[in-house]
Amino acid sequence: MGSTIYYFSATGNSLTIARQIAKGLGDCIVQSMALEPPVEPVGGPDGSIGFVFPVFYIGLPRLVKHFVERMNIIKGTYCFAFINFGGNGADTLGMLEDILQEKGVHLSYADGVKMPGNYIVKYPAFAPDVIQKLIKNAMDKADEAAGAIAEGRLQPVKRTARLFSKIANYNYLYKGIAEWDKKFNVTSKCTGCGVCTKVCPVRNIKIEGRHPLWQHHCERCLACIQWCPCEAIEYGQKTIGRRRYHNPNIEVEDIMVSLIK
Ligand SMILES: Cc1cc2nc3c(=O)[nH]c(=O)nc-3n(C[C@H](O)[C@H](O)[C@H](O)COP(=O)(O)O)c2cc1C
Ligand code: SF4
Ligand code: SF4
Repeated sequence: MGSTIYYFSATGNSLTIARQIAKGLGDCIVQSMALEPPVEPVGGPDGSIGFVFPVFYIGLPRLVKHFVERMNIIKGTYCFAFINFGGNGADTLGMLEDILQEKGVHLSYADGVKMPGNYIVKYPAFAPDVIQKLIKNAMDKADEAAGAIAEGRLQPVKRTARLFSKIANYNYLYKGIAEWDKKFNVTSKCTGCGVCTKVCPVRNIKIEGRHPLWQHHCERCLACIQWCPCEAIEYGQKTIGRRRYHNPNIEVEDIMVSLIK
């Protein structure tokens, strides 16, 4: 049975998990949710469909929600999801389950794992030894998940903190969209290399006069600040001096939207 995993990843954690599960499954395509969703119906008796992505504000990243809402999944498809988060996944899988159920499908297998947190607006990158331990543990759990999915095992979503997830996710991610990226600023370390524009999943950054300008439709993924090779981007004053994070197994080219196939 062939599989397709749809992933979203700003700093590489989800991508490294998606690749590990794909490796375990064998005949599996890994596709970015930063691209357009498939127009044709997907899945069916011969193809399982997977979702791998990070938790944003105790719930689904907006980009993931909009991508899945536009998908046409054949009823009866074996669907699976594997989320990752810096601390707590709350009801994120349940939020995905709700969208799938409206399409007449559901998650046959759902799981998640802790990964190094990337929310630099609140905290710096974790210590290097902690990062290594979390990634090793996540790779082991991804292997376990791949084994279970390959056998078609069932592990439904365990719903938890439903209302909290819904309210917190909405309040933090959907309010003030036009305002949030106004706090990004760029220091004199900027060389105008354009990496920030290339890693942005929604083309929210333009280079003008050799410096980035944010266009006020930000997904808050933090790829720009985390991947800037000069550490020239700050978010207000809070991020000054904080260690940046991106997954050590992933190259910046893997995140650049125009290079993703
Ligand atoms: C905007 C934003 C919100 C986040 N919210 C949460 C959260 O509510 N709970 C949590 O445990 N981690 C949260 N995180 C951390 C990420 O889920 C985590 O670091 C994830 O592994 C990043 O995956 P990626 O490298 O594939 O982008 C958040 C990260 C971002 C950028
Ligand atoms: S990635 Fe950094 S150095 Fe390159 S253009 Fe963007 S802000 Fe400037
Ligand atoms: S502007 Fe930065 S934080 Fe916003 S979506 Fe683009 S890469 Fe992510």
